[in-house]
Amino acid sequence: SNRTFFVGGNWKCNGTRESIKKLVEELNFATIEKDCEVVVAPPYLYISQVRKTLKDEIQVAAQNSWYNKGGAFTGEISPDMLKDVGVKWVIQGHSERRSIIGESDSMIAKKSQYCLSQGLGVMACIGESLAERDANKTTEVCFNQLSGYLAEVKDWKNVVVAYEPVWAIGTGKVATPQQAQDVHLAIRGWLSDKLSPEIAAATRIIYGGSANASNCHELAKMPDIDGFLVGGAALKGPDFATICGAC
Ligand code: G3H
Repeated sequence: SNRTFFVGGNWKCNGTRESIKKLVEELNFATIEKDCEVVVAPPYLYISQVRKTLKDEIQVAAQNSWYNKGGAFTGEISPDMLKDVGVKWVIQGHSERRSIIGESDSMIAKKSQYCLSQGLGVMACIGESLAERDANKTTEVCFNQLSGYLAEVKDWKNVVVAYEPVWAIGTGKVATPQQAQDVHLAIRGWLSDKLSPEIAAATRIIYGGSANASNCHELAKMPDIDGFLVGGAALKGPDFATICGAC
């Protein structure tokens, strides 16, 4: 395809100044191919440290945001602030925020739309639980979550869809290339129906859930897998570099 391969590293709630210094050194040492867009998402607190020390070829993302301008919103971080410190992307709708924090489709969609309106890219996460997969509800769940985004998102140009089956996240139980491809193809079909064939063809759909340096190549061969959203393996510089090299 002519879609630029996209690899996101989601560091989640991990790291210290010291461990992040080491990880940045490893990433600075890695060769980033021209045809691969690479983004890392540190915890908010470390974003400035990372942006100041990481090479420019790697972009920085946030793992969440407030859904509007700043103000009297204790504990929140506005997209305007993220831009101010050099952030280009924001992860939205991660399953951990949906299930542990309780974020709703509508809150996620509002956050996404505000980020997009401010010129930030959005990694829009979706994905089914094991019970939903076992009940043959995988595409239904994914389409419902996509419809949540569709209710607010006006322009999909800066959206990357991240398909992350919940049962594969942090479990070491990766989706098979065919399982992932089937869902990615269905997502592309949905984008084509609801938006346009052109948008569907241009939108990156990336896979997340126990992606690592050994399984990334087989997954990346599938026609509708346009990259990865990596958790655990993104904390190891050489492994993350290998995944970026799977483009
Ligand atoms: O955002 C990343 C995903 O939750 C995947 O995490 O690679 O540790 O399974 P994982």
